[in-house]
Amino acid sequence: MNAYDFFANMAQGLSHTRRNELMWLFRDALTLDMANWAQYELSNEEALILAQKADRLLNIGEPLAHILGRTEFFWSNIHVTPDVLIPRVETEFLCDIVSRTVDIEQATILDMCTGSGCIAVSLAKKHPDWSVTAVDISAPALKVARQNALDNGVKIEFIQSDMWQNVTKMYDCIISNPPYISSVGMQELPDSVKNFEPHLALYGGEDGLDFYRNIATNASKHLKKEGYLFLEIGEEQGEKVAELLKANFDNVKVLKDLFKKDRYVIARGK
Ligand SMILES: C[S@@+](CC[C@H](N)C(=O)[O-])C[C@H]1O[C@@H](n2cnc3c(N)ncnc32)[C@H](O)[C@@H]1O
Repeated sequence: MNAYDFFANMAQGLSHTRRNELMWLFRDALTLDMANWAQYELSNEEALILAQKADRLLNIGEPLAHILGRTEFFWSNIHVTPDVLIPRVETEFLCDIVSRTVDIEQATILDMCTGSGCIAVSLAKKHPDWSVTAVDISAPALKVARQNALDNGVKIEFIQSDMWQNVTKMYDCIISNPPYISSVGMQELPDSVKNFEPHLALYGGEDGLDFYRNIATNASKHLKKEGYLFLEIGEEQGEKVAELLKANFDNVKVLKDLFKKDRYVIARGK
């Protein structure tokens, strides 16, 4: 069967999003312009591989990024495994805010809770003069992040640390997208997240705010005066996180994401 008919048969009755994901899966596997799918006869082996991948996507519910082993993020190609959170579009927007706001040449940047390294890698790539450090508690996540730095041709200092424990320097800018899902939220997560993404990357304690409490108390010890703090938050956490930060930071503001939901809290060092 030709690639186009094979795709069209599988795509029948799927939602728009699912069809799109299936298309990406085909595009990745075939490395062939879509315009040529109809003329391309699949070998039995190619058809089998595509059918197996489609089964993982459509029946098992595995995220597309896991099947492809990568995702696009803020103009970087990011390798992902089940050891790291799949980078989200909201976090790309956070990188955009950081990129447009930090006006310090040769800025020193700390990405706390780096996971795949998506924030650290893409900012280092966009701002070659910045000096970027990335922290995570998870050795397997750091392995993925190191690979991403290598693949994207950027130099990053990686530190394995339980939050600030092994962090010794002061920075011009601290960014963090920490785990922020509450106990109740964990039960409500879609299966594609609950079953495939690491608990360590998601769970933020009973009310989801444990990491923000930690950051509110400790980040100021590593942030220079008037340095920038950028946090990604859950959509209902804006006011609470802002309140936590007020004691140790100035100019605390809650910002919305592209979907008009509270998603970031930014502040300046005192
Ligand atoms: C929500 S994920 C964010 C990953 C990535 N920065 C992103 O935006 O896609 C949170 C990350 O925090 C890490 N983490 C969890 N507990 C930690 C701790 N105590 N200290 C440092 N990192 C931690 C997890 O391993 C995970 O990689």
